[in-house]
Parts: sequence; structure tokens; C-alpha cells
Amino acid sequence: MNIHGQPHRTIEGNPTTRTARILDQTLLPHHVEWRELRTLDDTAEAIRVMRVRGAPLIGATAAFGMFFALNANASDAGLQHGYDTLLATRPTAVNLRWALDRMKRVVLSLPVDQRADAAWDEAMAVAEEDVCTNHALGAHGLQVIQAIQAQKEDPTAPLNIMTHCNAGWLAGVDWGTALSPVYHAHQAGINVHVWVSETRPRGQGASLTAWELREQGVPHTLIVDNNAGHLLQRGFVDLVIVGADRVSAQGDVANKIGTYLKALAAKAHDVPFYVAMPVSTIDWTITDGVRDIPIEQRSAREVTHMPGLNDEGDREEVLITPADTQARNDAFDVTPAHLVTALITEQGVFEPAAEALKAIKPQP
Ligand code: MRU
Repeated sequence: MNIHGQPHRTIEGNPTTRTARILDQTLLPHHVEWRELRTLDDTAEAIRVMRVRGAPLIGATAAFGMFFALNANASDAGLQHGYDTLLATRPTAVNLRWALDRMKRVVLSLPVDQRADAAWDEAMAVAEEDVCTNHALGAHGLQVIQAIQAQKEDPTAPLNIMTHCNAGWLAGVDWGTALSPVYHAHQAGINVHVWVSETRPRGQGASLTAWELREQGVPHTLIVDNNAGHLLQRGFVDLVIVGADRVSAQGDVANKIGTYLKALAAKAHDVPFYVAMPVSTIDWTITDGVRDIPIEQRSAREVTHMPGLNDEGDREEVLITPADTQARNDAFDVTPAHLVTALITEQGVFEPAAEALKAIKPQP
């Protein structure tokens, strides 16, 4: 996707220096700055403080982290240290564990002196595959959008798509998940318009989704999170598409806090609610997602303080509550499968149900 008209990816491996360059998302939308990852610790820090975020991108970044770990110490102990350090960074997005398991599987049976080279090649492959996967799921999502557009009384009127958080190209290596069908539709000449909810407390909608849609020239409008029910009730939304951090084997969906409320409101007003995600986001070890998907608890400071630019153009955080207010910060919630219309994946569009999902379960 483009930044100021130039194509970029959120993470790029440099085969000469064997480093990885990331776009620092903590500085967006005000500053476009790239950062070099060279070590395991650099990588773990970037994931932990959300310089990179979004389930697929967390996975791809962790794959490079495993290379850095093995480049420093390719023994079994070094491998396990890399695995454990990266796994501890964020608990909900299962693409992290998926990428770490894949890296471990590739190198474990190799002699120690071959592990770093193999890990580099595999990390580059994980990143490249993410681009192809997200492109493919976008093509399936385009068919969903075309079908909904065809049912509209006036097919030339804007097709209003609501999303939540950022599941765009910033959340993957390229294309993104929820926004990949939107970009495909925009490129196909469909008159799409996106409702972008600001996504308190970290504001991924306001600072990331609004920024990337603007860069690609896709019409969009920012709303406060609490406006979603109102817009759905008034008929201003044709469909909702969100991403996912973890989907259970029966189709329950963990995604950014606030997703569940949108799904409830969409159901109440008969608006289709789609989840777009790669198959690697399905956690086959969990059936009941509401009960068993771990929910990340983040700092209360993200709720009590708001970041932004001051008049001098410097980044500042301001307190918005009484100084001693207690706050709770659940980063994700789980939408039960019965509220989800369908799951859009790189392998097609599936009913969120255990029986249907068996068709895409990877064979051991
Ligand atoms: O806390 P974040 O910004 O990592 O949360 C991101 C989301 O919730 C996304 O919707 C999800 O990871 C899907 S990204 C394609």
C-alpha cells in the first residue's frame, strides 16, 4: 500500500544486513518514521509497546525475532529463549504463537550451524506469504461486497462499510484483513465509504485506519465508538467487516474491545457482520472462545490519559480523569459465533461453525 503515493510494506527484511525495517506505528499519524530491528530484544520491545501491532504483523515480526535470537545463539537453549521472550510480549493474537511454532519446526531438526540461515529464509517467507494471503482473502471479500452492493436499491449509491480498530495494511505486512476487501472493492470501482470508529483507548481507528484509508484515497468518516449502534439502527451501514486476533475452532472471534457491541447491534438491525482473517488466526486448540481465549490486560494509563500533538507539534499525554480514578483496560473481547455472518479467509468464505471450519484445518 502507499505512503505519499509510494508503495511500502510495514516490515521489510534486508537480505544484505539481515535486519528488518518497521514502520513505527506509535508515531502515526503525525510522523512517518522507520526503525531498524537488529536483535531479539529490539523485536520483543517493538511488539510489546505496539510499534508493530495487528495479529498478522505481530506474527511476521516475531518470525524475524526468532532469526535474531538464533543468529545470536543457535543452540536449543537460544531457540527456546527466543521463543519464550517473544511469546510473552502479547497474549491474545494467536498468529504470534503460530509464527513461533512454524519457525521452531523449521530449525529444530537442523545442525546448529545451519539454523540462522534457515530462520532468515523462513522469516522472509512468512512475511511474503502474509502479503499473498491477505491479497487472496481480499479477493474473496470483494465477492461478498459485490453481492451486497447488487442488492442495494441504487447500486451507484455509496456502499457503507463499518470497521473497528485497525485491520488494514498496517496490521499485516500488506493489504490487511478487514480492509483488504475494501481496497479490492475501491480498486474495482465500487463506490465504498468506510465508517471508522476511533477505538478507545489507543485510538487505532482514529490514528491508523483513518490515516491509511486517506493515503489510499478511500472515502471514510471517523466516528466515536459509541456512534456505531446509532448508525446501524438508522440504516447507514450496509455491512460490518472487522479483523480478528484469535478465532476458536467453532468460530468465536476475539478482536479489539468494542467489536462485540458492534456485532450485537448489527444482529439487532439485521446488518451482515463479517470477520476477515487468515486461517493462521484460528486456534484449533480452543472451542469455546468466550471461555478460553486469553484477553490482554493493558495499563490503566491508556484509559486515564489521552495522547496527541500540542501546539508546538510535540507529542504529549494529558490526564482526562480525576488523578486517582481507577481504570480497567481489557484490550479485546470475544464475539460468539452466532453473531458472525461468515468468516472471510484466503481459502474462501466459511460459516462460523466447527463442522464448516474442519474443511480448512491444516493437517499435522
Ligand atoms: O491491539 P492491536 O492494535 O494489536 O489490535 C488489533 C486488532 O484488534 C485487529 O483488529 C486484529 O489484530 C486484526 S488485524 C488484521
